[in-house]
Amino acid sequence: MEPNFVALRKEFPVLERKTYLNSGSYCALANDVKAAIEAYMEDRLAVGANWDVWITRNEAVRALTARLLGAASDEIAVTASVSAGLNALASALDFSGTRNKVVISDFEFPTNAQIWHAQEPRGARVVHVPRDASGYIPAEQFAAAIDENTQLVAITHVCFRNGAKLEIPKIVRLARAKGARVLLDCYQSVGSADINVKQLDVDFAVGGMLKYLLGTAGIGFMYVRDSFTKTLLPTNSGWFAQADIGAMDITGNHPHPSARRFEAGTPAVVNCYAAEAGLKFLLGVGTQAIEKRIQALTRRCMERLVEIGWPSVTPTGDERRGATVCVPSRDAGALAKELMRRDIVTSHRDANLRASFHFYNNEADIESFIAAMKDLRAEFAPA
Ligand SMILES: Cc1ncc(COP(=O)(O)O)c(C=O)c1O
Repeated sequence: MEPNFVALRKEFPVLERKTYLNSGSYCALANDVKAAIEAYMEDRLAVGANWDVWITRNEAVRALTARLLGAASDEIAVTASVSAGLNALASALDFSGTRNKVVISDFEFPTNAQIWHAQEPRGARVVHVPRDASGYIPAEQFAAAIDENTQLVAITHVCFRNGAKLEIPKIVRLARAKGARVLLDCYQSVGSADINVKQLDVDFAVGGMLKYLLGTAGIGFMYVRDSFTKTLLPTNSGWFAQADIGAMDITGNHPHPSARRFEAGTPAVVNCYAAEAGLKFLLGVGTQAIEKRIQALTRRCMERLVEIGWPSVTPTGDERRGATVCVPSRDAGALAKELMRRDIVTSHRDANLRASFHFYNNEADIESFIAAMKDLRAEFAPA
């Protein structure tokens, strides 16, 4: 049975005032998430330092994230950000031998590029797979870059600049054929698409809670395939990464046997409350239904943009598109500001305006956006 999207929309009060097309940057706030943050505040007033309970909130986030991704809890590190997870992972990799190549793409968010470039003094060689003339990166483009010297293929699922989705299963097969590991940066897709890390056969996956997962900034996750965990020894560590946190041992480093070894210090407790509530809400709606709805909304939005003579640069095929529709503009920043003045919340990157959709958006949101864009076309569409 399809979720009741009309009723679900009412759980996001900002939607009464704004046409909210910005979940790819930060989600709309759900009543449940607001209540969870308030519950944390109440707890601080009522109990003070309620650590025994707070730690269980962190564990709840781990378990819900595992459910979301089709993984085991022990394969999930709860991190402060994608950067924190990637730095811990990078610190555990050895780039001193011939298998020192890290293959990334032109579609990466800076986090998943800069951190690999930061490993160059340790011997890493970072290779960028370029887009083709159409602006997309077909899986075949990766074949030339992935070879026997490739240790890791670290790629985004959906590009934050243009909304394009990479052909992950094909790229994973290319990596496997050469014995390389695969890291998926799914920050721009997780929560907007149905993702199963086992089916995708990736070794690592990173993301965070503030976009389609309905939570907040300052908390993320890293999935690490169980069979790798014990072979990897992060030097970027902390006391919450230890096998026995309570031991308070200062004589050595004893990493946890699970993916917790990629964690660091004290968890951001209030963020755990928000993330838990967001994940519960999202899983209650169901990721398959969410993916289907977002595909329909983005498809419709792109059709309407063509009708008003201002087509997007996002791929049209459902399999090659995420939740964001990107529209080229001669001044994307000023266009986003003008839309905001009309209570339409979007964002912009490079020369593109970004309108991103979640399950709580509807046809009326598309029509408000299209009406405003039609009005602003002469001023802001590319010359
Ligand atoms: C694809 C992608 N990766 C990573 C990030 C952010 O990473 P971090 O959690 O390190 O800030 C973003 C944020 O917008 C993103 O879109």
